[in-house]
Amino acid sequence: MTTYAVTGATGHLGRLVVTELLARGVSASDVVALARTPDKAADLAARGVTVRPADYADPMTLPAALESVDVLLLVSGSELGRRLPQHSAVIEAAKAAAVGRVAYTSIAAADRSANPLTPEHRATEDLLRASGLPFTILRDNWYLENYTAQLPQYLATGEVLGINGDARIGAATRADMAVAITTALLDPDTAGVTFELSGPPITLAGLAETITEVTDTKVAYRRVTAEELTAILRRTGMDEATAAFVVALEESVARGDLDVRGDDLERLLGRPATTLADALRAASA
Ligand SMILES: NC(=O)c1ccc[n+]([C@@H]2O[C@H](COP(=O)([O-])OP(=O)(O)OC[C@H]3O[C@@H](n4cnc5c(N)ncnc54)[C@H](OP(=O)(O)O)[C@@H]3O)[C@@H](O)[C@H]2O)c1
Repeated sequence: MTTYAVTGATGHLGRLVVTELLARGVSASDVVALARTPDKAADLAARGVTVRPADYADPMTLPAALESVDVLLLVSGSELGRRLPQHSAVIEAAKAAAVGRVAYTSIAAADRSANPLTPEHRATEDLLRASGLPFTILRDNWYLENYTAQLPQYLATGEVLGINGDARIGAATRADMAVAITTALLDPDTAGVTFELSGPPITLAGLAETITEVTDTKVAYRRVTAEELTAILRRTGMDEATAAFVVALEESVARGDLDVRGDDLERLLGRPATTLADALRAASA
């Protein structure tokens, strides 16, 4: 029997992967949910999944967490700027525990993108490649939820703001990514493979049009400069550093850093990816 462990199992993506492993017929006794906050995984424990504490920032928790694990999904951490030592601790612990394969959720085009989030992901990929462990890299593009979660705001303001309405973004739903990631976890032949998990490209101008179609409420795309966007974010009460970071992310999107083509996502999914229109319909239901 293969034992699968998933870090960040209390987060959106990790929980979806644990659930998908069970849905694909992996016995709950072969699934380990690793959680910084194990109490938040009570629902998974109730399904028979083993829940173990694992905090990337507390390496003492990791040896017991990874004991007898064959395939590990390392979901990238959420504490920006601290992730490299955290991911390194997990990879070191995986080596010590002789984990059979480590899969890592990276970022789109990690080898070439100038997205400000990329350096920690690229460095983690490098650590994994140098670790000697069999690995699978899953480069997640933007979640479609980054946009669909803002639907109430788009509808309230009648606007989608952006620096470049035509830049292509290979966004995909977390649910689709989780299914694709699970396929890669279950398939030993994905060892040594780097996948780009990008969906059919959307644009911000297209997002406004699709919201209008799906909700029957007029939403327009409005182009703003980086300076205007900074001022808008600052007016919402966002601090200067966070606003600068958000604008740097938007500039990266505007440059086309998330314009990644290819069919890796759909091949791992075994079906077409969820469309923006369907994701918006689900969000507005
Ligand atoms: N592609 C995108 O658009 C996009 C957007 C946002 C984030 N991300 C990246 O993708 C990852 C997964 O996304 P998500 O939506 O599932 O994020 P999420 O819901 O915020 O979940 C993050 C998970 O990481 C866990 N975590 C954070 N720091 C940890 C630590 N020090 N030790 C152990 N676990 C830790 C969290 O534990 P707790 O439950 O205890 O907090 C949580 O389970 C994020 O962490 C981030 O790296 C990607």
